[in-house]
Amino acid sequence: MSVQSDIKRLTAPDIRARKNGDPIVVLTSYHAHTAALADKYCDAILVGDSLGMVMHGMESTVPVTLDMMILQGLAVMRGSRRALVVVDMPFGSYEASKEQAFLSAARVMKETGCGAIKLEGGRRMAETIAFLVERGVPVMGHIGLTPQSINTIGSFRAQGRDEADWAPIEDDAQAVTQAGAFSVVIEAVAEPLARRITAAVPIPTIGIGGSAACDGQILVLEDMLGLSPRVPKFVKRYGELGPSIEAAVAAYATDVRARAFPGPEHVYRLRTKGK
Ligand code: KIV
Repeated sequence: MSVQSDIKRLTAPDIRARKNGDPIVVLTSYHAHTAALADKYCDAILVGDSLGMVMHGMESTVPVTLDMMILQGLAVMRGSRRALVVVDMPFGSYEASKEQAFLSAARVMKETGCGAIKLEGGRRMAETIAFLVERGVPVMGHIGLTPQSINTIGSFRAQGRDEADWAPIEDDAQAVTQAGAFSVVIEAVAEPLARRITAAVPIPTIGIGGSAACDGQILVLEDMLGLSPRVPKFVKRYGELGPSIEAAVAAYATDVRARAFPGPEHVYRLRTKGK
């Protein structure tokens, strides 16, 4: 017997079917409350390992653990009802072997209830992606700039800005496609290359610093809200929450120091008889 739920989410096959269709809207979220807001407008929500840098102030995503991803994945599942929730596999949880990848992905899916996982890497991860997909794990690929490789690539710099460097990135896109990924994130690659890959592969491409021609776009929520102190060139700021939050915190501090908060409307009076 199953318990029916009124939650009807988009699935990985729904997103896969959007190739060449209406643009796919994706944002990251790590919290229940921001997930509830994103859920109204997004087709998918990524619980990105960028949470290490954005929430925890780490220098890179490398230190992020599977437990951190599961905790925030659960929060996002609680906050959302409609979007496909994709949880990032953190560095060290999937690269050693395809079996390690399956065990980690199974934990993420069982413990969060998410609908898909994402992992970084093209050709080098193709065998792992195929192994996961054959065993019931929908995989979103991630090629171009792969931030978990920061210690081997040296900097978060855009990829494929010389045409001579395109072939390996195109091969990565083909490899994740043939391995069975339902979509692929293309991060920080030259615009004409992102456009060309989008035309070449039959799965949706989700651009971040890619091209408007990609089948969808993703941004890190805090970056587009103006909460991150430094953002890459590809981020468009849709809000300036940093200054608003600072103004609110400053006003609160002033009120507390002046004993202007709490006011009469914020305190509990004694009960009056008969009420
Ligand atoms: O971790 C993340 O937020 C990501 C996106 C930038 C695609 O991988």
